Amino acid sequence: MRITIIGAGYVGLVSGACFSEFGVDVTCVDNDADKIARLQRGEIPIFEPGLNILIERNSSAGRLHFTTHLAEPVRQSEVVFIAVGTPERRGDGAADLRYVFEAARQIASHIKKFTVVVTKSTVPVGTSTQVAEIIRTTNPEADFAVASNPEFLREGSAIEDFMRPDRVVIGVEEARAEALLRSVYRPLYLIETPILVTNIVTAELTKYAANAFLATKITFINQIANLCEAVGADAHGVAKGMGLDRRIGGKFLHPGPGYGGSCFPKDTLALARTATQYGEPVTVVEAVITANEAQKQRMVTKIVRALGDRLQGATVAVLGLTFKPNTDDMRDAPALTILPALIQQGVRIQAFDPEGIPSARRHLPDLDYRTDAYDACQGADAVVLLAEWNQFRNLDMARIQATMRPREDGLYLFCDLRNVYVPEAMRQAGFHYVGVGRG
Ligand SMILES: NC(=O)c1ccc[n+]([C@@H]2O[C@H](COP(=O)([O-])OP(=O)(O)OC[C@H]3O[C@@H](n4cnc5c(N)ncnc54)[C@H](O)[C@@H]3O)[C@@H](O)[C@H]2O)c1
Repeated sequence: MRITIIGAGYVGLVSGACFSEFGVDVTCVDNDADKIARLQRGEIPIFEPGLNILIERNSSAGRLHFTTHLAEPVRQSEVVFIAVGTPERRGDGAADLRYVFEAARQIASHIKKFTVVVTKSTVPVGTSTQVAEIIRTTNPEADFAVASNPEFLREGSAIEDFMRPDRVVIGVEEARAEALLRSVYRPLYLIETPILVTNIVTAELTKYAANAFLATKITFINQIANLCEAVGADAHGVAKGMGLDRRIGGKFLHPGPGYGGSCFPKDTLALARTATQYGEPVTVVEAVITANEAQKQRMVTKIVRALGDRLQGATVAVLGLTFKPNTDDMRDAPALTILPALIQQGVRIQAFDPEGIPSARRHLPDLDYRTDAYDACQGADAVVLLAEWNQFRNLDMARIQATMRPREDGLYLFCDLRNVYVPEAMRQAGFHYVGVGRG
């Protein structure tokens, strides 16, 4: 079995490395020549825990290859995955499908035997059918079938998610395609992973429905947390009390600064747009999108209020810039909304992130980037914890206070937007502690 994966980004690289770990011959193709050159030299262009080991092992074993030329690998493959980006289209929130369609055109001319062309990118309903039309028009001779196989991995735990997923969803309309995809995922079937086979539009929609539901859960607890602040309740207590109900479940009930990342923001927008187009608006998701923007703005207000008179010219230490820990991905991170708004109000920012700084520099050139958390806190009027990397979970608070500037009442300002610390313990340690939904 040979597989080609078009697009060597977070999804393409992880999928390629994991399929090759299953013993399959995999070629990852990307049109970013610099990315491919780095991969061929053994450098990993993204930060994803464990990915380097997997890539090194399978490249050395001769099962994993990287190239910018798709002709040869496509000719030899039984299955070709499209894993290119589907970012938000400027202006209307729809998914921008130009990379998917371009990949389909490029694949088409090189199909030489029966090939399944699988959309792994997150795409709106009907896209795989459009991919089929493009292939048919470009190469009327091609013997192929299209399929949809949405990816559910999470950055930061992508290898584990790919190797032990909760489920695999396969959308097919031809028995030959189903048989090939079942054999690709056979190692997961052996560990009893549910393999859900549906028609193509069902598979396409399942991915959006799952992401929109998770975004809704986060937004729900964020709004409940805001209500907790008004009534003096503790959002963690509420979340625990809700989550112990097995119909609800405890996951994704952690209040914070609003969801971000390369998927939820664009996928909720794209789903809302598709639903409206089909005359069946998903108003719940529309409300989630609005509420999530408001949550990020609320964080700005929270920090500004906490700084009070000291706002103008204040120095704020920001710990964590990526949209979540264990990734270097800055796409749609809450930091990209919150920090420019603070700068606009006269704040200076000293920031540290374990992996996100190279990418953050491109989006946020006005920050003063520091070498670690303690360096970021030097001379700061406030600390803002924005992404809960493990190394920020057990900070030496005495060391931080030793270099911070206290408020007039002698307390040190700590805005914990991920609720990592225990409010009472922080107060006892001499902080003015601000969390999310903590009374
Ligand atoms: N990142 C995630 O956590 C995640 C999870 C599940 C699903 N997805 C979905 O998977 C898709 C890919 O996401 P990603 O985060 O891996 O994107 P990415 O931006 O990291 O990677 C996409 C890659 O495709 C390459 N590319 C674009 N057009 C190409 C072409 N014609 N030929 C060859 N290469 C091409 C780009 O150079 C880039 O390296 C998206 O649809 C996304 O919504 C992402």
